[in-house]
Amino acid sequence: KTELRLGIAGLGTVGANVAQLIERKADVLAERVGRDLRITAISARDRSRNRGFDTHGMQWFDDPVALAREAKIDAFVELIGGSEGIPLQAVEAALKRGIPVVTANKALLAHHGVALAKLATENGTELLFEAAVAGGIPVIKTMREALSGNDVSRVYGILNGTCNYILTRMEKEGIGFDACLRDAQALGYAEADPTFDIGGYDAAHKLAILTSLAFGTEISLESIFIEGISKISIDDITAAQELGYRIKLLAVAVRTDSGIEQRVHPAMIPARSSLAQVDGVTNAVAIDSDLLGSILLAGPGAGGAATASAVLSDVMDVAGGFVPPTLGLPPSRLQPYQRARMRAHEGGYYIRLA
Ligand code: NDP
Ligand code: HSE
Repeated sequence: KTELRLGIAGLGTVGANVAQLIERKADVLAERVGRDLRITAISARDRSRNRGFDTHGMQWFDDPVALAREAKIDAFVELIGGSEGIPLQAVEAALKRGIPVVTANKALLAHHGVALAKLATENGTELLFEAAVAGGIPVIKTMREALSGNDVSRVYGILNGTCNYILTRMEKEGIGFDACLRDAQALGYAEADPTFDIGGYDAAHKLAILTSLAFGTEISLESIFIEGISKISIDDITAAQELGYRIKLLAVAVRTDSGIEQRVHPAMIPARSSLAQVDGVTNAVAIDSDLLGSILLAGPGAGGAATASAVLSDVMDVAGGFVPPTLGLPPSRLQPYQRARMRAHEGGYYIRLA
């Protein structure tokens, strides 16, 4: 098998989880893509920290830009965060070498996504960012692939796990804003600077990316109305409840007669609606389109494991594409499963699929 040599810059909540996942699932991933995924270069600030995976055989770089410029890698994974300076220079350096880049960095994409995508194309390579919007929910691939023949009229939802976690705990447990935010930080949900979360900017970054994909527009953060949740009190939440509503931070992009309208703000939504049921760190993205009508995607929207799942899906795309396990397997692969299921049932004649 040929190897896919990976360079990972940023070994925090997401980066460490990605490396641990690649270590833990090495065999099964290699079988699925027909290549070994091998991390050959890593970078973070603190070299001495134990990151929970074996760094043996990996070249350490203090400088992520040097890693992107010099390391012997086939793909560069940027998990540092931030829209300017080092992450931007590192991503540009990798793309200029024709090396595919996988990133979870929505701030970077919201500010420089169009230019970086152009740079990737000019250098015959790819920029992949499934993890940048709604954590583990496969919304980018859905938008780019499954909905490619649709005309989207509206995309909206809950795009920030930290805010939804805070609002849910304030409502259900009566815990104050600051304590909820501290817990969200401890759980690895919040941005390095949490004002990006509670100020609505992180949701705006994600909305900007979704809008661009959905409507084929330039990314324009400036045209998004942004209001965060820092002024929401438990009294507001209780008042909304009494009227049959819940308060959620919504991100909305909608096609209007005068253009695409984009906004992020807290909203009172009917308690019985699907979005109102989305609690904790869960995110949900609703997409209205001409052929499909309305769909709702929901799932873990932040945190190391969920985000690593999305990063890994892009890495596997780079490695050569993932063959779905239910198609094209030789019968010998199916037999043991069927037999095991048959044995598990009395008489052994039938298979229950439920
Ligand atoms: P962390 O703050 O946990 O990790 C950042 C990593 O980058 C750390 O390992 C840090 O090093 C390293 N780093 C920072 N500055 C430098 C530098 N100058 N040189 C080298 N290394 C540096 O962030 P997250 O893992 O939470 O987030 C990473 C990216 O993923 C961000 O873009 C974020 O927006 C995005 N994201 C995060 C999600 C989440 O739930 N956390 C979900 C979806 C996307 P050290 O560890 O030594 O300090
Ligand atoms: N800070 C972000 C959130 C991480 O809370 O949603 C996921 O993008």
